[in-house]
Amino acid sequence: MNGDVFVVDDNPDNLTLLVGILRRQGYRVRVADSGRRALEMIRALLPELILLDISMPEMDGYEVCRELKRDAATNAVPVLFISALDDAGDKVRGFESGAVDYIGKPFQAPEVIARVESHLKLGRLQKALEARNAELSRLNAEKDEFLGIAAHDLKSPLSVIRGYAEMLREHPETDDETRDAYLARIAMASSRMAQLIQDLLDVNAIERGALVIRTEPVDLAEAARLVVEAHQESARAKGQTLRLEEPTGSARALADAVFLPQMIENLVSNALKYSPHGKPVLVRIANAANTLRLEVVDEGPGLSADDQAKLFGKFARLSAKPTGGEHTTGLGLSIVKRLVESMSGRVGCISTAGAGATFFLELPAA
Ligand SMILES: Nc1ncnc2c1ncn2[C@@H]1O[C@H](COP(=O)(O)OP(=O)(O)OP(=O)(O)O)[C@@H](O)[C@H]1O
Ligand SMILES: [Mg+2]
Repeated sequence: MNGDVFVVDDNPDNLTLLVGILRRQGYRVRVADSGRRALEMIRALLPELILLDISMPEMDGYEVCRELKRDAATNAVPVLFISALDDAGDKVRGFESGAVDYIGKPFQAPEVIARVESHLKLGRLQKALEARNAELSRLNAEKDEFLGIAAHDLKSPLSVIRGYAEMLREHPETDDETRDAYLARIAMASSRMAQLIQDLLDVNAIERGALVIRTEPVDLAEAARLVVEAHQESARAKGQTLRLEEPTGSARALADAVFLPQMIENLVSNALKYSPHGKPVLVRIANAANTLRLEVVDEGPGLSADDQAKLFGKFARLSAKPTGGEHTTGLGLSIVKRLVESMSGRVGCISTAGAGATFFLELPAA
């Protein structure tokens, strides 16, 4: 076993003996012959374990130990006393000052080694546990935030549905045309909720590693064509032109045939959603040696460096706002990023604020 051990003893013979035992075991050892010096050196570079003599002039081991335990920077390093003071009271004082163990002098090498080893192991377990704990707290806070935003985002379409449903119930005399308009709004709000729930489930499944991605050769141009066709109507409604520049040559990528359209759809719908009325959106495919690159180019507001840094995070609703009353959850790109990365590809954005944006997907060529 390896490890960084620090030995403090004012007796040079003891010091030499201990260092010899420890170095033969393969430990890295640093030493000090006084409490003051030890504190300085330990603060400068933390060891994993400290072996500390009790009877020393000026500052004794108890004092050194208390000092180490008071200081947040050093307080996690386990201290083992090594001392000729051997009655129960001395040992108790040692534990009270914060030590984890006590070795009596004269000591036997195997005992020193066994105790050092077991406290190194314990120390490492403790550290691993703390790290795991911190990670769990972080994940828990993230889940809380996730739930909070999801609940908030579900509430507004739900209140639309409830509002129109109540109006219809309270006013049976409502004429057919108005009733159809209400029902259309109810249907819209429900599909928004369904979409949001689907996105949340996708994010969840991706995070749990439960989403099965199957890559196979897929025609990228064909997938782009279908998405572009599906968005012609909404582009027209905003006076935008949406065009696919057909690639020259083959555009077969290794991708998941189910999720590929969803990824392209996210980029195209964003370009339309955040571009002003009347602006064009262009989809094109570039064919490099081993990768295929699909680009969605818009002339919308673009993104600042600050926004770009947050772009692929969950619930990233940034400076650009929808220009036609579309909905935004801020999940789309975070899903795209996870999906494309699990297909060994990548997604990115090239943009200067105020000058449009180019989003690209890169996938391995088939
Ligand atoms: N083409 C773009 N131009 C300018 N800003 C954009 C563009 N695409 C995305 N953004 C910004 O990035 C944010 C995150 O986009 P993302 O697709 O993840 O979420 P969304 O579109 O808000 O909601 P969702 O896709 O979940 O319905 C958007 O809210 C928007 O501010
Ligand atoms: Mg989006």
